[in-house]
Amino acid sequence: MRIVAVVNQKGGVGKTTTAIHLAAGAAEAGRRVLLVDLDPQSNATSGLGLEHTPGKSLYPVLLGQARALDLLQPARQANLQILASELDLAGAEIELAGLENPLLRVREALEPLRHDPAFDLVILDCPPSVGLLMTSALVAAEKVLVPVQCEYFALEGVGKILSLIERIKQGGLNPHLSILGIVLTMYDARTRLSQQVSEDLRTHLKDQVFQTIVPRSVRLAEAPSHGKTIYEYDNAGAAAASYRQLTTEFLIRL
Ligand SMILES: Nc1ncnc2c1ncn2[C@@H]1O[C@H](COP(=O)(O)OP(=O)(O)O)[C@@H](O)[C@H]1O
Ligand SMILES: [Mg+2]
Repeated sequence: MRIVAVVNQKGGVGKTTTAIHLAAGAAEAGRRVLLVDLDPQSNATSGLGLEHTPGKSLYPVLLGQARALDLLQPARQANLQILASELDLAGAEIELAGLENPLLRVREALEPLRHDPAFDLVILDCPPSVGLLMTSALVAAEKVLVPVQCEYFALEGVGKILSLIERIKQGGLNPHLSILGIVLTMYDARTRLSQQVSEDLRTHLKDQVFQTIVPRSVRLAEAPSHGKTIYEYDNAGAAAASYRQLTTEFLIRL
């Protein structure tokens, strides 16, 4: 079983969209997947059409009051389960800080799943800030996937995440953590900027950048408001095709 954290300290770069579609794509490919929504804003939860039920999130698990396995919810799709988020997760940052070994709590919460043959893959959708939850996700994960919007300063942003990962490795909290890859999102082929940013990222980060590029797509932006994945909402479109291709590349890299 592999644990992959989808991370970028910037909001609105396509983390949640990528986490949902890799999870749903891998499930479609026959992997048994758990998507964990670690963002108090619950976008992954609502994007898959699930309600936020108080108490049905990682929050009580982090506080040692429940087991993750008891709180999972099935998605409509076969092979895909969700550990939802709720607003209380925002409070968890503060409460966790007062507990012993707060950075190990997410890893410990997921430990029983690691040895459970019912799961092949756990994807962690992280909040957009370098807080306790995101850092704990990096301590729990084996691999990191970084979605990057094709815009100015993208390279600086990636640099910051790479150095955070280095610090976590060298601090001894998760020595085997590594980058699975960087995914370019919201690519607009009509703009020079998108082309230039993607060229820059490939020049500097080479084959750490996934071959597949996710295009900017209105259909992709609409899908979550219907609680649907792009595979359900516009399966024949370019965005669904790109996320399927990304899923294939993702599963090969894993
Ligand atoms: N490739 C894309 N094309 C158009 N809109 C997108 C694309 N990817 C994501 N979005 C939209 O952009 C917004 C931010 O994306 P999201 O995945 O929630 O980012 P993050 O989780 O990094 O904050 C959402 O409204 C989402 O629906
Ligand atoms: Mg998000």
